[in-house]
Amino acid sequence: MRWLTAKGTQRENHTPQAQQLALEKIENPGSAGRGDDIPSAGTKMIYAKNWGQKVLSRREFIAKGTGTAVTVAAAASTGLLAGCANSAASPPPTVRSFHDLAGPRSLRAHARRHGLIYGSAVVIPVVQRNADFASLLSEQCGILVPSNELKWVALRPSRDAFNFGPPDFLYDFTQRNQMLMRGHTLCWHESVPAWIRKIDNKDEIKQIFVDHITTVCKHYAGKLHSWDVVNEAIDPNGKLPGGLRKSFWYENLGPDYIDLAFHTARAADANVKLTYNDYGVEVDNDGDAEKRRLILEMVKGMKSRGVPIDAVGIQSHLNAGLKYGRGVADYIEAFHQLGLEVFLTELDVNDDETVSSDLAERDAIIARTYTDFLTAALPNPAVKIVLTWDLSDRFTWLNGIGSHRKKQPDRSQRPLPFDTDFKPKDCFYALRDSFDRRKRA
Ligand code: XIL
Repeated sequence: MRWLTAKGTQRENHTPQAQQLALEKIENPGSAGRGDDIPSAGTKMIYAKNWGQKVLSRREFIAKGTGTAVTVAAAASTGLLAGCANSAASPPPTVRSFHDLAGPRSLRAHARRHGLIYGSAVVIPVVQRNADFASLLSEQCGILVPSNELKWVALRPSRDAFNFGPPDFLYDFTQRNQMLMRGHTLCWHESVPAWIRKIDNKDEIKQIFVDHITTVCKHYAGKLHSWDVVNEAIDPNGKLPGGLRKSFWYENLGPDYIDLAFHTARAADANVKLTYNDYGVEVDNDGDAEKRRLILEMVKGMKSRGVPIDAVGIQSHLNAGLKYGRGVADYIEAFHQLGLEVFLTELDVNDDETVSSDLAERDAIIARTYTDFLTAALPNPAVKIVLTWDLSDRFTWLNGIGSHRKKQPDRSQRPLPFDTDFKPKDCFYALRDSFDRRKRA
């Protein structure tokens, strides 16, 4: 049995018993003694039968485990640690294999067993430069999306240039690692290059818009899982009909630019899933309810006009402490009724409002937020993919946003499944357990 470690090396589990056990873990992951037995789903403690009679929290356990290979290996080989099935038959596990998160225990595998694809946004230069992180991605993710490199500003440094190098690199990386890739985004009010803003002829801008979508979609035709065709077109605080945002595209192309973008994308790529993606729809409060209503109306209108839309993206930038439940569940069901798929496209949890700076407390609250949201969202079979907006806290965009610098300049955000050293956090387990609670596909 082979699987990838975090370092990207392949490790073999030699004994026939161990191989049999590993196979059982894959084929029957729900069985007792399965591999993915680090306590989860609300299990707070890890029990050590004879480690000075001490009961370890997950945090203590991981800290010990990663600190001293010898201690853990010795404890495991004498059967001291619960969760180490067949310790007599198997070779003494290394630290890494003891709480292994790879192979059948990865987010990728758990998602897949429940009809989901799990993945992450990435900053492409990080994937190119950091081999450990690239391995972690290939271990954990079934799909990747570039955070920035397919947006206009990055892709179109000038009217005549398309900078396909970085996203093409990422596409090759996904192919080498049996992953999917999605595209983000063909149209977003926050990524409009300066050179196009200088053009004051609306017909010319429209032509550039159509040419851009055509060229980019053709470049990747048949290769991507989905495209965020239009991102964040609704602004309930504006005064425009239908709640449309007063964006550069709206002002130059008029309200039809959304339909035009979807038709153009479909003409260039017959099969990629065309998605409308937005934020501010996740919380159970009046503001988010109004935005949900506006987006639903817009999408119903598109469907009735025969606009080729396949899916709706819910960005899922959550805030620790807010209420997630019925609102997002009903929203997803409304799209299910329309025959659309739903993607959770940019999941993370901002905890700048959490007063405590105790890491364990913060992580527990963040994990709870993941669980609450996913408990509402995942039961619906329309939900097909879940992506976090990066995989490690080291690269989160949330440390760079203005509100963070104002509210919590002295502490870093912890919004993602892996910490800055690529160690799993509570929300890793919250995600994995949430996948496991979903009815099997
Ligand atoms: C963010 C990127 O992560 C940042 O690196 C960049 O500076 C700004 O954009 N919603 C979206 C994403 O749809 O495109 C945004 O990505 C995060 C919010």
